[in-house]
Amino acid sequence: MATHTVRFVETGETLACNDRLTLLQAMERLGRKGIPVGCRNGGCGVCKVRVLEGSCERRVMSRAHVAIEEESAGYALACRIIPTSDLCVTVIGKMGRAFARPEQDRKLTGE
Ligand code: FES
Repeated sequence: MATHTVRFVETGETLACNDRLTLLQAMERLGRKGIPVGCRNGGCGVCKVRVLEGSCERRVMSRAHVAIEEESAGYALACRIIPTSDLCVTVIGKMGRAFARPEQDRKLTGE
């Protein structure tokens, strides 16, 4: 089992994701408030991200949420990708608020 590091550009945070987890499953393990639990099956679009660096296995996802052109530009649904290398990602969908500010700011405001 290989483990890859995923870095979020918004905060610089990293997490470990093994090759048996989707990116969303790994993100949920952060226990972060604001990570919505959607369909987990590529249909609702709440977990949209953009992979800026690295490679991943991509499973079928709704074209209503990730157009072919977007997929070519790195957009994906976190519940439908499994990292196959270290990744650098930006959070696009409703989860974006959970990654909008550094952790220390979040603690200061009591969120
Ligand atoms: S959780 Fe619904 S598309 Fe990812």
